[in-house]
Amino acid sequence: MGRQAIQILDIDVGKLLDMLNAALSEEWLAYYQYWIGAKVMEGPMRSEIEPELLLHASQELNHAVLVADRIIQLGGTPVLHPLKWFELSRCNYDEPNDPYIEVILDQNLKGERCAIQRYKEIADFTSGKDHTTHQIATTILGEELEHENDIEDWITDINRMKEELRKIRI
Ligand SMILES: [Fe+2]
Ligand SMILES: [Fe+2]
Repeated sequence: MGRQAIQILDIDVGKLLDMLNAALSEEWLAYYQYWIGAKVMEGPMRSEIEPELLLHASQELNHAVLVADRIIQLGGTPVLHPLKWFELSRCNYDEPNDPYIEVILDQNLKGERCAIQRYKEIADFTSGKDHTTHQIATTILGEELEHENDIEDWITDINRMKEELRKIRI
């Protein structure tokens, strides 16, 4: 991005870059959380949900691309070392050491709610001041909301399935 283009932004670019690098770190952790969770997952509806989790993972990776490209356009440096992800991320990385599907989904759900908060903050911070970053943040926010909704639906379906099985046993 040209120097003038950065100067005309009515915004604290340093603060915005910090927020974007935190978001970038969170995206990589979310990517791996989904990807490895899908690999180790066990339990009801696994064959249906596994490809969906891998799709979510690929969408998180695409968010990382959008955020990293914007950091570079703003004259910043995207986080260069994976160890920094843990330092900068506000969202936890939950090791999926219990492979049961509901536990994995719950871990991913927490990550989505954390991401929703992050992009809401970036969207609010850039509103009316940096239209390009604002548009990126609202686009990603829309996908994170869809992800949260998908996971909530799967949890509902699994619970319903468990209820039906309980009725059959009675
Ligand atoms: Fe994301
Ligand atoms: Fe997501």
